[in-house]
Amino acid sequence: MTLPANEQQDSPRVSPRTVISLYVKMTKGSRLLFLSALALLGVSLLMYLGFALAIGKLVDGALAAYTGETEAGGGMADWGINQWAWLLFALLLINMVCNFFEACWFQVVGERAAVELRTRLLDRLIHLPMGFFSTIRAGDLSSRILADVGLLQEGWINDVRNAISYIVMLLGSVTMLFVISPSLAIFVFLTVPPVVVLTVWFGKKISAGARRVQNQLGQTSVIAEEAIHGIHRVKTFTNEEYENRRFGKTMAEYLNSATSVARHRAGLFSGIVFVLMTASVFLMWYGSLQIQQRKLTPGDFTSFMFFLGFLGNAGGLLAQLAGRIHRMAGAAQRVSDLLDEKPEETNGNDGASDSFADTLTGDIEFCDVSFTYPGRQQVSVLNGINLHLKPGKCVAVVGPSGAGKSTLTALIFRLFEPSQGILKIDGKNASDYSLAHLRGQMAMVPQEVLLFGGTIEENIAYGRPEASRGEVIEAAKKANALEFIEQLPKGFDTPAGDRGVQLSGGQRQRIAIARAILRDPAVLLLDEATSSLDSENEKLIQKALADLIRKRTSLVIAHRLSTVRQADTIIVMKEGQIVEQGTHDELHEANGFYRQLCDEQECLIED
Ligand SMILES: Nc1ncnc2c1ncn2[C@@H]1O[C@H](COP(=O)(O)OP(=O)(O)O)[C@@H](O)[C@H]1O
Ligand SMILES: [Mg+2]
Repeated sequence: MTLPANEQQDSPRVSPRTVISLYVKMTKGSRLLFLSALALLGVSLLMYLGFALAIGKLVDGALAAYTGETEAGGGMADWGINQWAWLLFALLLINMVCNFFEACWFQVVGERAAVELRTRLLDRLIHLPMGFFSTIRAGDLSSRILADVGLLQEGWINDVRNAISYIVMLLGSVTMLFVISPSLAIFVFLTVPPVVVLTVWFGKKISAGARRVQNQLGQTSVIAEEAIHGIHRVKTFTNEEYENRRFGKTMAEYLNSATSVARHRAGLFSGIVFVLMTASVFLMWYGSLQIQQRKLTPGDFTSFMFFLGFLGNAGGLLAQLAGRIHRMAGAAQRVSDLLDEKPEETNGNDGASDSFADTLTGDIEFCDVSFTYPGRQQVSVLNGINLHLKPGKCVAVVGPSGAGKSTLTALIFRLFEPSQGILKIDGKNASDYSLAHLRGQMAMVPQEVLLFGGTIEENIAYGRPEASRGEVIEAAKKANALEFIEQLPKGFDTPAGDRGVQLSGGQRQRIAIARAILRDPAVLLLDEATSSLDSENEKLIQKALADLIRKRTSLVIAHRLSTVRQADTIIVMKEGQIVEQGTHDELHEANGFYRQLCDEQECLIED
């Protein structure tokens, strides 16, 4: 069973392979930069190791000067403290330069990867079938694009880089410990098991206790809340003392658990400090013994302690990273789940689509089509629809809201596939066409027009992005939108969308009509396209619409019956079925559901 996406947050089944393969995919374009950054990171880590060694040499140099015994060997063996100090300084300088470029490049690789991933995600998203969107919340999707990728990016820049450097540091330090003094190194690693045992044992006690404390605290607050909300009940039964006892008892339990947690925490802390400090004392003693026996120089011992410091540091940070990597794995899983969704085949799934490359004549036939939305299987939205839209004719669809009118248009656009029956376009099964070809010859003017954050011109040209300025203006004129557009502060260059100019519903609808005019489609679908126009505006664009409709197959869904009188056929829908069909006069005569709707809107029919 798959969980809903948002509950997969802490799912433990994400594999590190998911994260790694996602990263490999994300950084394909900047592999060279990544490898260079990695190489510089390596150099910088070498500098640290060299630093610890050189410190040891510095100490030995000082000691040699102090005791007056200089080893004669030539080369670096003769170096005094000044030379070693200069070397240390040089190492730091090199390290700084490496750090600069390495940090900068990792950052750039991370940014590029995030851009790449977000682009891919959006591309994948907009190519997913509509069914996908009705089963998932939009907020969840945009959070995947923004938050999860952000998390991965941050992880990329910091965590992955750090993990690499900590691991290298850890391995390097361990090696150096053994190189300097195997017996001291073995001694160091003998202290690891007790620390691990201590941490695990106390850790378990602490987390179990912490959960208990949390629960008991929750219970006490429930009791307090009940007592306050039910104060009437408490008082009428004179049960104040009872409530006090109930609260007191739970509080005592809470205190017990909390005390036990405090004891375990303290035990862990003091135990670890004790083990580590004892080990240090023992280490110092054993190291001094070795120095005394001339098996080790004080400088080497100093270096040893530095490496030990590096080791402890890297180990601790690596443990912290583990938790973050786990969180990242969750994000990686959600992101790759989305990337693995199967997109619509907009280019057709068979060679057959080539034979349909010509323009459609716009003959659309619903043959016994039934439909349920993927997200709501229990409700049948369309029931045995038989409907023929003939080329160049206009069919109007009326009926109460929820009757399934808009769903018809969604099926014609093949946003969804019929659950039963066949949708034929120009005599062939609609699913034989490539989606891009099919949708390329259709245009839709919806009820709610959404403008995106481009200029007005770009919004109109959305119908045909290669259109010239002149064509856009022409389309706007035909849609009766020219006048108001020219009154905008920057005319056609005025930004629209959420952050742009606020247009009224009617103005937005006229932009959508201009879009459709510009597209010049074989099939035109108007879904309550004039419903947000006032009657004055409506009259103004009726003529433009009439021109637009005349030349192509059109399906006009209208709330106001006055707008559908001219249609060649009117179909009346109710609860997913076609209940009446005919011209306005025929249906009016028939005295049925259409007549009833007409009578309800009498005032509108008048004009
Ligand atoms: N994306 C969707 N997912 C599930 N149910 C939907 C969806 N869109 C519409 N419906 C349901 O399908 C029925 C018909 O809707 P619709 O075609 O929009 O009706 P109309 O356009 O006639 O008002 C309604 O009951 C509506 O709630
Ligand atoms: Mg509708």
